[in-house]
Amino acid sequence: MKIFFSLSVFCMTASVMSLPAFADGPAMPNSARICSTCHSFGAGEAPKTGPNLYGVFGRTAGTSEGFTYSTAMQNSGIVWSDETLSAYLENPRAYIPGNQMSYAGMRNPRQRAEVLEYLHAATEPAE
Ligand code: HEC
Repeated sequence: MKIFFSLSVFCMTASVMSLPAFADGPAMPNSARICSTCHSFGAGEAPKTGPNLYGVFGRTAGTSEGFTYSTAMQNSGIVWSDETLSAYLENPRAYIPGNQMSYAGMRNPRQRAEVLEYLHAATEPAE
């Protein structure tokens, strides 16, 4: 009886622990939830109001397939990195005047770092 009990506890724990396998990608911090209302992150996912961000690091701004960007974004010539993304997210309108992302900006540097860390995990191929 004791063995049966511990076995069923083990099974319950195992099934609870395997739950995250059903969720898509890494856990999303609250600071990145706002981004996910307009952006998808995974390979091959459809764009939403904003472009799909898969592979965004190292990519030239305005070049994700299947999304129609503003001329300002297409002509910016920016290559996305931790530095350029952090500057853009801090104040999107000032960094690329005329771009169409309706997002006021994230002034808190710690929150931006958290979002960037999540973006790396969510938009780069898993190892
Ligand atoms: C209200 C919708 C909305 C929200 C919220 C939003 N975005 Fe965007 N984002 C857009 C749109 C639309 C564009 C395209 C802008 C353009 O073409 O001028 C864009 C562009 C971008 C780009 C450039 C992509 C490329 O392919 O060049 C990045 C990177 C980005 N957003 C990241 C973020 C992150 C990170 C957040 C959260 C902090 C966020 N966005 C929040 C709508 C949004």
